[in-house]
Amino acid sequence: MRLDAILSRYGYCSRREAAMWIKRGRVTVKGVPAKSASAKAEPADVLVNGEPIEFPDGLYVALNKPTGCTCSHREEGELVYDLLPPRWMERGDGVSTVGRLDKETAGLLLLTDDGAFVHALTSPKRHVPKVYEFVCSAPIPRDAVAMFAGGEFMLHGESTPCLPAELEITGECCGRLTLHEGRYHQVRRMLAAVGAPVVELTRIAIGPLTLEELHLAPGEWVAIDPSIFA
Ligand code: URA
Repeated sequence: MRLDAILSRYGYCSRREAAMWIKRGRVTVKGVPAKSASAKAEPADVLVNGEPIEFPDGLYVALNKPTGCTCSHREEGELVYDLLPPRWMERGDGVSTVGRLDKETAGLLLLTDDGAFVHALTSPKRHVPKVYEFVCSAPIPRDAVAMFAGGEFMLHGESTPCLPAELEITGECCGRLTLHEGRYHQVRRMLAAVGAPVVELTRIAIGPLTLEELHLAPGEWVAIDPSIFA
């Protein structure tokens, strides 16, 4: 790839600005200062301001989403993207969330610039399990465990039943729900339908990845290895 294409693709500067960055000695290839924006290089061999190119093989991060921010590029108010380095938003392939969490839902959220990864994890065919911990404002009826597991639970306004989901009741008004699909506001709607409206919701795992093992404070992120989802 040309150096100017590398600098713009990974969000450092525009192709036009690249010539100036190179002239000012900000770019090296295999340790040698670059001379021309049109020279070709492997992204992994390039340093910008002495630092390697970030995520040359694709950006994959896990964020501990706090409540109060939205998984959208467009909405008003605080966005999950505001919690990430601004340069990532300039990457040519665009960074997006892998699925969404509601504004008032916290916890594990994946972000990437790899559209195939988004598709693989959100495809209804894959059924990647997602685990949610919740607190309700009313006791959770015991028979909800069998209702959710049965594969016949219908949500209001939908034409197909929910896939079997595992409900664990850990206290009178709290528990854990594992879903194998991702319908709009699904956890909140399922629990509201059995008379237990959710007041706090946190996603604690996606497939093999758990929030606990990442040790992230709300708002913090860390790079992950996407091959764990293969
Ligand atoms: N279910 C919900 O109700 N909200 C989320 O954010 C995720 C799953």
